[in-house]
Amino acid sequence: MTQQTRKTATQDWDKAGWRAYPRVQMPDYTDPAALAGVESQLRRYPPLVFAGEARRLRAQLADAAAGRAFLLQGGDCAESFSEFSADNLRDTFKVLLQMAVVLTWGAQMPVIKVGRMAGQFAKPRSAPTEVMDGVELPSYRGDIINGFDFTPEARIPDPTRMLAAYTQAAASLNLLRAFSTGGFADMHRVQSWIADFVGGPEAARYRDIAGRIGDAMAFMQAAGVNSDTAHQLSKVDFYTSHEALLLEYEEALARIDSTTGLPVAGSGHMIWIGDRTRQPDGAHVEFCRGVQNPIGLKCGPTTTADNLKVLMAKLNPANEAGRLTLIARFGAGKVGDHLPRLIRAVQDEGANVVWSCDPMHGNVIKSSTGYKTRAFDSILREVREFFGVHKAEGTIPGGVHFEMTGKDVTECTGGVRAVTDEDLSDRYHTACDPRLNASQSLELAFLVAEELRARREDAAPVRTAANI
Ligand code: PEP
Ligand code: CO
Repeated sequence: MTQQTRKTATQDWDKAGWRAYPRVQMPDYTDPAALAGVESQLRRYPPLVFAGEARRLRAQLADAAAGRAFLLQGGDCAESFSEFSADNLRDTFKVLLQMAVVLTWGAQMPVIKVGRMAGQFAKPRSAPTEVMDGVELPSYRGDIINGFDFTPEARIPDPTRMLAAYTQAAASLNLLRAFSTGGFADMHRVQSWIADFVGGPEAARYRDIAGRIGDAMAFMQAAGVNSDTAHQLSKVDFYTSHEALLLEYEEALARIDSTTGLPVAGSGHMIWIGDRTRQPDGAHVEFCRGVQNPIGLKCGPTTTADNLKVLMAKLNPANEAGRLTLIARFGAGKVGDHLPRLIRAVQDEGANVVWSCDPMHGNVIKSSTGYKTRAFDSILREVREFFGVHKAEGTIPGGVHFEMTGKDVTECTGGVRAVTDEDLSDRYHTACDPRLNASQSLELAFLVAEELRARREDAAPVRTAANI
């Protein structure tokens, strides 16, 4: 599409326009002057990402829409101010890289790496208040909005938290960029971390795949393709993403891309609309429709075919591949009830989308020990169901979306280094939903890779929007 037609799509859009639309899940700030002061400060700050990077991610996602690349999106449910450290960033980045290499082997195509990092600070909640020991307080909505402590003071929305979030996001991105290009992400190192994982007795069943990845690397090395001769082996493209929930923050960081003259969200490369904020006539859709970044749209069980058609028309009127990623999150056992109607809605419209699977948000349960958890097996089952439905429909499963951390937490149950209900209390650190730990994340990548590989070997011809 030309720049001119794109301009037409957003001609009637203004970055503050969302304010005239109904909003949900956003705080009511009590001090308008303090809020205005923070917004004007943020408007003067540099954007966190460069528009050209967001455009490059869009182009790569267009490949995922066509089945030529695979999306891996993952990171914290909610980034927190207290867990912010170089070690935590490094460990999550390290696991994402290992998962990406394993998935590259499985999919036999490039894996696009997108962190839920450097901006994932605001959380939608299922209830506006929380009750503990008979005391009712406003819910915690993420560190960019209010505090986690169960006190009335902590729960008051504080606009200055946006400045702290911006600073943390900027510092996180700085380190992630350094890791991506400074030698840390070298494929040989990543491969040696994978080898360490499968060296342990529990993960032995994945040793064969790790060995095959090692062989491929050794072959390339022998053929003279190494980190010195091929920069693809020593550097990675790594992108950031978060839910665009707090629209005062998003608006203040929105900028005009000097290359195209079009608006872009400066808060991260990709932003998404949550399952609770996807009202077609709501503020979140209104904001997101006007920025040029790749947009994610969470699709839960209540998404109807008509909803989706309206949302696709609003968010991607020119039907550009790479613009819109539909992130299905139904829960294990329910994918077959919901995904087919949405796939057909996409087909009816001839829409270009990336289909990604979030097997986390439909699989939260309460453990026998009282913790909010997710079972590894349910997560895997939802991914398998997602692949199965796409196979039956002849469409393309383009990616996966996980809540995970590089730390050895005990928040989800199961996996080869089995976490039990009784273990959950040991290292349950999440500020919001339970995350896969490093071992569970990598194991899941191996299992998804096996799935992808099996499907490639079946070699059923895939249908794209162009040949339906
Ligand atoms: C999330 O991804 O953190 C989230 C809240 O997801 P959903 O909007 O799908 O519930
Ligand atoms: Co979550």
